[in-house]
Amino acid sequence: MQDLPSDRDALKALLDFHVEAGVDLALDETPHNRFAEPKPEPARGAGPVPERTVASADSRNPPPPPRALPKTAAGAPDEVASLAREQARHARTLEELEAILAAFEGCALKFSAKNLAFADGNPEGRVMLVGEAPGADEDRIGKPFMGRSGQLLDRMLATIGLDRSQVYVANIVPWRPPGNRTPTPQEIAICKPFIARQIELAAPEFLLCLGGPAAQNLLGLKDGILRTRGRWFTYKTEDGREIRALPTLHPAYLLRQPLQKRLGWRDFMTLRRALDAKE
Ligand code: URA
Repeated sequence: MQDLPSDRDALKALLDFHVEAGVDLALDETPHNRFAEPKPEPARGAGPVPERTVASADSRNPPPPPRALPKTAAGAPDEVASLAREQARHARTLEELEAILAAFEGCALKFSAKNLAFADGNPEGRVMLVGEAPGADEDRIGKPFMGRSGQLLDRMLATIGLDRSQVYVANIVPWRPPGNRTPTPQEIAICKPFIARQIELAAPEFLLCLGGPAAQNLLGLKDGILRTRGRWFTYKTEDGREIRALPTLHPAYLLRQPLQKRLGWRDFMTLRRALDAKE
């Protein structure tokens, strides 16, 4: 690591250089030379299986370990996506799925992210919300929707009498894309089997897709979110269950376009009515 310049202007110029280069978050007090560190071992199987499992999972008879991944995330995207599917299917509980995902090395985003932001809230809740990808706050804390978008989301949930202890929250992509860029189609294809399994295991009654990418990737919709929001669709799990799914505007969009909050509020009221009708 080079020595830091001592005078103020040179320090500011160095900082500006980093900001222009896309460095928008300091992760640690001390710098690490990642190039000098030993390469991580390729993932062998699913990693340790956590102790807590749901009743249906026979912990004395663990599933066979999934096939090992190619050495790095540089494998062919189709091959990595098919391995991701295979690994995701091995998870019998959400805890196992999180452990498998934490050991998964097929998505390059893992290596630039600080933390895996797997989920927040209550997996027993009747509603599951899925966003796009973690941002800087979520990456730092290791949970979805922790920053300004999350605060708005909490206020919107409160308007229909819900809080995080009653809903389960996740993202299509569980690692932060560097600089908050949009995840690439390849990254989404690789991560999709995991969110699909997460939905299947959480088995919510209702799925709220936050923003266009969640609605398009989970529900296969072609239209943009302003056309699809507020209408019920059906999400089909691989094990054949049907879940009622409602696309709505992403809270980050609502922060940029506050006048559209009334549309978001309408969608939340639609969800409230559906919850009440099924109680
Ligand atoms: N935006 C998302 O889509 N997900 C988060 O977790 C945070 C912001």
